[in-house]
Amino acid sequence: MVVDRGLSAGSRNKFPEHASRFLVTNRVGTLPSMTPDPASFDGRAGEFDRRSAPPAEAAVDIAQAVDEMSRDAAPGAVLDLGAGTGALGAPLARCCAARGVVYLALDVSLGMLARFRGHLSGAQPVSRIRADASRVWPIADGSTGAIFAARAAHLLDAGRFLEEVRRVLVPGGVLLLGAVRRSPESPRAQLRRKLHALLAEHGIRPRSARRRHGELATLVGPGDPPQTVASWTVTESLELALSAWQRPGHLIGRDVPALLRREVLEDLHTWALDRWTVGRYDAGHPLGETHPRPTLQTTERFEITVVRPNPSP
Ligand SMILES: C[S@@+](CC[C@H](N)C(=O)[O-])C[C@H]1O[C@@H](n2cnc3c(N)ncnc32)[C@H](O)[C@@H]1O
Repeated sequence: MVVDRGLSAGSRNKFPEHASRFLVTNRVGTLPSMTPDPASFDGRAGEFDRRSAPPAEAAVDIAQAVDEMSRDAAPGAVLDLGAGTGALGAPLARCCAARGVVYLALDVSLGMLARFRGHLSGAQPVSRIRADASRVWPIADGSTGAIFAARAAHLLDAGRFLEEVRRVLVPGGVLLLGAVRRSPESPRAQLRRKLHALLAEHGIRPRSARRRHGELATLVGPGDPPQTVASWTVTESLELALSAWQRPGHLIGRDVPALLRREVLEDLHTWALDRWTVGRYDAGHPLGETHPRPTLQTTERFEITVVRPNPSP
């Protein structure tokens, strides 16, 4: 069931009873949203899992790690902030259900939330809330034992995030910041660096998720060093590696004019072909030309930083 803050009281009644007490549906955000247009993730929802979700076994490892870290915190719901398609959320919801804890998935993108069903087994009930987390969250004060924000916190308004984390967590509750990391020499990391460099020539700088995580963690309270809880290898064609950046929506967290985007991605493709094509040719190319098709391999790992919020000043 998807609850939207804008839904009528009648629709709200469809939300699972056991989870309803964690919700506040009459809150209205007051700050302008700094988040990307929801359409930016809606447009990517269809390919998000194929391109960006960890493999299923790694997702289970991540969910179990989050569950263990949440167990050590105070009792209360587990809130998955920017939950997306549920690639991580569905196994986490299973862990929560097994120990009788309410799991709530919150995301601004209906397209992403709609994919959740594909990760659920059978009749597993999951409470999904569509809301903009850069505004006041529709979650009750002091109701949440753990907030899990995987690859999402850097997209939110930092001031609002800080306020809301402190408001909804029970004393002793934890914030779990999740991120995917890769070695600087891996192809995906090199591609991203080159993309940043090409866009920088046009004065466009990326939103740095890593820097933002560090800043948020410092703002919220003392944290442990990041822990690696899963790792996996991605094998993909160069074209697939580039495909997510070709879709409409934000690029490196910024609005990039369509023509510039196209030119930059063409330059990136040419650069990557030069770099990774070593004598691999497809003689059957329709133009009768040699046609290189590099395959890239990247090892990725998932890190979680446990942060224990300071009490509100
Ligand atoms: C990179 S995805 C991560 C999804 C999931 N946590 C994972 O790791 O697989 C970021 C998610 O944050 C959501 N998001 C972005 N801005 C948001 C906002 N203002 N409020 C709520 N969700 C937001 C997007 O819709 C998207 O589903």
